Amino acid sequence: MSKRGVFVVVEGIDGAGTTTQVERYAAYLRERAREVHVTREPSTGPIGAFIREILGGRAVLPSSPEGDLMALLFAADRLDHVRGEVEPALARGAVVLSDRYDLSSLAYQSVATTSRLPAHEIVAWIRSLNRFARRPDVTLVVDVSPEVAATRRAQRGAAEDLYEKGALQARLAKAYAHAEVLVPDDRVVHVRGDGDIETVASLIQSALAPWIEE
Ligand SMILES: Nc1ncnc2c1ncn2[C@@H]1O[C@H](COP(=O)(O)OP(=O)(O)O)[C@@H](O)[C@H]1O
Ligand SMILES: [Mg+2]
Repeated sequence: MSKRGVFVVVEGIDGAGTTTQVERYAAYLRERAREVHVTREPSTGPIGAFIREILGGRAVLPSSPEGDLMALLFAADRLDHVRGEVEPALARGAVVLSDRYDLSSLAYQSVATTSRLPAHEIVAWIRSLNRFARRPDVTLVVDVSPEVAATRRAQRGAAEDLYEKGALQARLAKAYAHAEVLVPDDRVVHVRGDGDIETVASLIQSALAPWIEE
């Protein structure tokens, strides 16, 4: 009998380990003969590719884009991603694991200091931009302290402005810890991501078990 598709979103601050854990959980499910589709946002489609060009400084827009413009691009990428890639995989009965979704837009924009609007208005605006984006069946938030995440990012080796980035990541960690406030109609489960990779992987297996038919 074919299985029902399940849309799982994994979220956390940079260095929380979401990419590592999505791969681990996909392998765990495949060993149990579940079809899995791993994906991420920004997507691998043309809008997502363009967003990564902007984030990497390789595409330059005349306005040097602020958060509001980026939120519009992310929302456009999301609709294309969810309709063109996520929904077909769900229809085949796959478990879709998305490394980030609209909770990322809500969390990042709600802590940005450069915003033109107060935080609650920004959240309402981003929700309305994403109102046609299918809701996940479950959102898994990997909570880590900003210090642990900073150590892991440093090991990963990418250059960053530590002070700015550190302050932003600390505010983001708080926003993720209270993710329910940002997506009050969604099912959100939290796991502690500070432990080693194996420990976090088994916390995730237990946390998601109620949603996944094996
Ligand atoms: N639980 C963990 N313990 C120690 N190191 C980890 C753990 N999870 C991930 N890492 C390492 O930390 C770095 C960031 O992990 P990554 O999965 O890319 O994080 P994210 O996608 O959340 O930014 C990688 O080098 C990864 O190997
Ligand atoms: Mg990642």
